[in-house]
Amino acid sequence: MAALHRVSTDGPVPVVVWPELFELADPARTKCVDQIARMLCDERLIVLQHFADHCLLPDLKSEALAGRSFRVTATEREDEVWSEHQIEPGGHLWTAMTSPMTENLIVCALERPIFIRRGWANVYECGEKNGWHRDGEGDLQLVLCLEQPTSGGIFLASLRGCVAEINLRAGDALLFDATRLSHATTRVKATNQRRITSVIRFYALPVPLQE
Ligand SMILES: [Fe+2]
Repeated sequence: MAALHRVSTDGPVPVVVWPELFELADPARTKCVDQIARMLCDERLIVLQHFADHCLLPDLKSEALAGRSFRVTATEREDEVWSEHQIEPGGHLWTAMTSPMTENLIVCALERPIFIRRGWANVYECGEKNGWHRDGEGDLQLVLCLEQPTSGGIFLASLRGCVAEINLRAGDALLFDATRLSHATTRVKATNQRRITSVIRFYALPVPLQE
């Protein structure tokens, strides 16, 4: 069984060491994916540690930064501003985040096929943050940390009435229900450093209306 364990920050956060899943034989892997999917349904958030291989990170980050960008202003969140970059479907970054293993886990958790994927990258410079909010759409969201500042830029989530600080390192990912869990990031404090993440938002196939 893969190393499913809980780490405590300010609250319990389930953590999966992602590459260990690949080392399992097929039946054990299927069982483990089912177990992770159940945990994701219960907790609405799971950390996938070492999701992206470290040697790939420089190229993935370059790809994220190469996309056309614009400044985002979240007027409902105290006019916070950061940069959003487009990422290309079919590129290395998109492919790494929509691997069959990843999508299998997502389909298991949603119990429905994936219908639409939407992806982008976020860049927070020193002094920038994203305040508390829930996303307006999507069923599950995968956030891959591509660069993490040495101070600030921490992902926060409201879990069971407590604020959990989730310390992602470059290469770690977070899979969570962004529409139901309140979340935020703290202000980047380190001078000349950035928080860079890429995001894929997964939409499940809608359930057909009953006649
Ligand atoms: Fe969000």
